[in-house]
Amino acid sequence: MKIVCAYVFIICASSVCAHEHVAPKLPKIEWSFDGFRGVFKRDQLQRGFQVYKEVCAACHGVKRVAYRNLASLGFSEAEIKALAAAQEVSDGPDAEGKMFRRPALPKDVILSPFPNDNAARAVNNGALPPDLSLIVKARTDGANYVYALLTGYAKPPAGISVGEGQHYNLYFPGNQLSMAAPLRDGAVSYSDGTVASVSQMAKDVVAFLAWAAEPEMEERKQLGVKVFLYLVLMTGLFYATMRRIWSRVR
Ligand code: HEC
Repeated sequence: MKIVCAYVFIICASSVCAHEHVAPKLPKIEWSFDGFRGVFKRDQLQRGFQVYKEVCAACHGVKRVAYRNLASLGFSEAEIKALAAAQEVSDGPDAEGKMFRRPALPKDVILSPFPNDNAARAVNNGALPPDLSLIVKARTDGANYVYALLTGYAKPPAGISVGEGQHYNLYFPGNQLSMAAPLRDGAVSYSDGTVASVSQMAKDVVAFLAWAAEPEMEERKQLGVKVFLYLVLMTGLFYATMRRIWSRVR
């Protein structure tokens, strides 16, 4: 009896606990890059890069991406040179041992705009905006999570007080973070005529970040399909050979 009571108690307690912590389920977006035949759409990657550059780059770097890698997004060499040249990076030391600033070159990587972590924390309420190169891989169900985070800002429910410099978000663990909602409708203007709603920009920037996290994803998946077909073919061949060889034994 005691054991049954304890058991019932544990089940009740755990369901109450579970209730307190329920995070809403992540929205499931149909990404073009999902599934074994997934591909990145070049126009979406370009829009996503635009959102990154015009909004997120104010606080976040993508240090695993060099400007010249943007060729995979369909940018021409001249466009890449121009994109790089619009940014400054520090270089050096020069002949006198001094560091200096110069326009970025295609070989340079896209760094955080802050000179160091302390400078970044100082203007972000003590929180460090992480480098976004691998964020889609670093979080569970990363693409859906980052999309949910960007679109998940809401008024805090009654009785919940939000800390100073913190913002309420349905999907961030603990529901409060130091990043204010970075997107608002029309924050960028797309040259291909796509309407820049918050949800559209969130999808586009997530596609760009998914590419940044695994630029070789398409090749990997294509190779997977080829290997699979090869194995099917070889299985058929070996089966036919086996039947032939054993037919003589009968
Ligand atoms: C004004 C600065 C600022 C801008 C602009 C900004 N962020 Fe952030 N971001 C932050 C800070 C600060 C944090 C850390 C928040 C924390 O840990 O409380 C953060 C955290 C994040 C995280 C990590 C969340 C987690 O699970 O740890 C992601 C993902 C992110 N930002 C994506 C973006 C994207 C995408 C954009 C552009 C659409 C963007 N951010 C624009 C400041 C910014």
